[in-house]
Amino acid sequence: MEKHGIKKYHILTFGCQMNVYDSEVLAGYLENMGYVHTEKEEEADVLIINTCAVRKKAEEKVFSRLGRLRSLKEKKQEMIMILWGCMVQQEHVAQKIKEKFPFVDLVGGTQSLGRFPELMEKARISPRTVLALETGEERENLPIKRGHQIRAWVPISHGCSNFCSYCIVPYVRGAEKSRPPENIINEVKTLVDNGYKEITLLGQNVNSYYGRRLKENIDFADLLHTLDRLEGRFLIRYMTSHPRDFSEKIIRTIQQGQKICEHFHLPLQSGSDNILKLMNRGYSRDYYLDLIKKIRELIRDSAITTDIIVGFPGEEEKDFEDTLDLLEKIRFDAAFTFVYSPRKGTAATEMKRQVPADIKKKRIVALNEIQDRISQEINQLLLGTEQLVLVEGKSKTNPNLYTGRTRTNKIVHFPAKEDLLGKFVIVEITEAKPWTLTGDFKNIF
Ligand code: SAH
Ligand code: SF4
Ligand code: F3S
Repeated sequence: MEKHGIKKYHILTFGCQMNVYDSEVLAGYLENMGYVHTEKEEEADVLIINTCAVRKKAEEKVFSRLGRLRSLKEKKQEMIMILWGCMVQQEHVAQKIKEKFPFVDLVGGTQSLGRFPELMEKARISPRTVLALETGEERENLPIKRGHQIRAWVPISHGCSNFCSYCIVPYVRGAEKSRPPENIINEVKTLVDNGYKEITLLGQNVNSYYGRRLKENIDFADLLHTLDRLEGRFLIRYMTSHPRDFSEKIIRTIQQGQKICEHFHLPLQSGSDNILKLMNRGYSRDYYLDLIKKIRELIRDSAITTDIIVGFPGEEEKDFEDTLDLLEKIRFDAAFTFVYSPRKGTAATEMKRQVPADIKKKRIVALNEIQDRISQEINQLLLGTEQLVLVEGKSKTNPNLYTGRTRTNKIVHFPAKEDLLGKFVIVEITEAKPWTLTGDFKNIF
């Protein structure tokens, strides 16, 4: 216990936005129990690591962190140490932690969030590590302590049933389940009433949101349309989209909407039909090209970004060249690129013809080089233009700079003296890099 009897918590979050959201729920529970947040992990009475399992590197980071935390826990026995999330939802990982890191008090999977207070109490009194790996939990009406004043995350579905052959997510997040539309709509309304200016709808595959599986008969486009018509000035974003489920109806809804941003994040994964099939992605390169064409025809000033995996089992030089070819043909605004990482329990791990590490490395370097050039060329076209930017806060590296993003999701830094947090402003772009833009503040808009 710290002085004055105030207990503190610290949460370290790995992984995607869904984990960021889950950490906000964990923080909500802890605040309800009277804990206050601390930036310093050594000050914490409750320390949570919210983990990710999507690639081996994500897991290694957690294990190395745990190694370092051992001595902290030895010094501060009463501290409650919790490992949460996707990585520990895997039975074999949970067992390994129990054996190798017995000082961890609680190991909780993604689908035990609603039972957090009860589990924490159990962990506090139990001499051994408490494991909670249930599946299929309902998730509504959970407390939340949001980490941002301007941007808020709102899950519209949980889990994933796509089973892309490389991906661990369906195993650690459970089957896809859409949230009832009225809960989503009410949550967004409340956020907007409370001053939030940007709402990001979350799901592993938002496009397959489908109220028909619930009582209501409403799909993702209908949901977007309904949210777009809510009162107030705010932006709507969503992630992640699956190209297979990105219907023309969605594109038209975005075109006609006022608030829905013109940014399309459409993970391509590979430009080779052979590999797409092995990945179980459910579309071909021609289908994907056609989708991009439709988006660009209907929405002129749009930005398109993607995710790419190199070195998937069986990827030959020819397949990789197909990916590079699509990169040149499509010219994405940005690409998040990954080296394929075998995940235990997924179909791709069992595939023959795994690609050697040195070839994977060579491929990702070549890919990044091409994409950086393309991103740079696209961003250079913005030099001298005036962009509408929603101001999110100060730059992490330079407190004299504000940071925000355009509707197309490009990060913009600019200096300004007045208080602009949460304002929509016009910025003239003066410098363009592949991942960020810099500019001069003109006026509030
Ligand atoms: N549901 C989202 C997010 C999945 S994880 C989606 O479908 O896009 C984010 C990205 O991580 C994926 O798009 C993919 O490019 C990458 N990824 C997933 N599993 C991977 C693996 N085993 N190895 C390397 N990259 C992976
Ligand atoms: Fe993983 Fe595919 Fe589901 Fe995305 S859609 S989470 S890549 S299985
Ligand atoms: Fe990682 Fe889980 Fe997200 S595996 S990418 S934190 S859904």
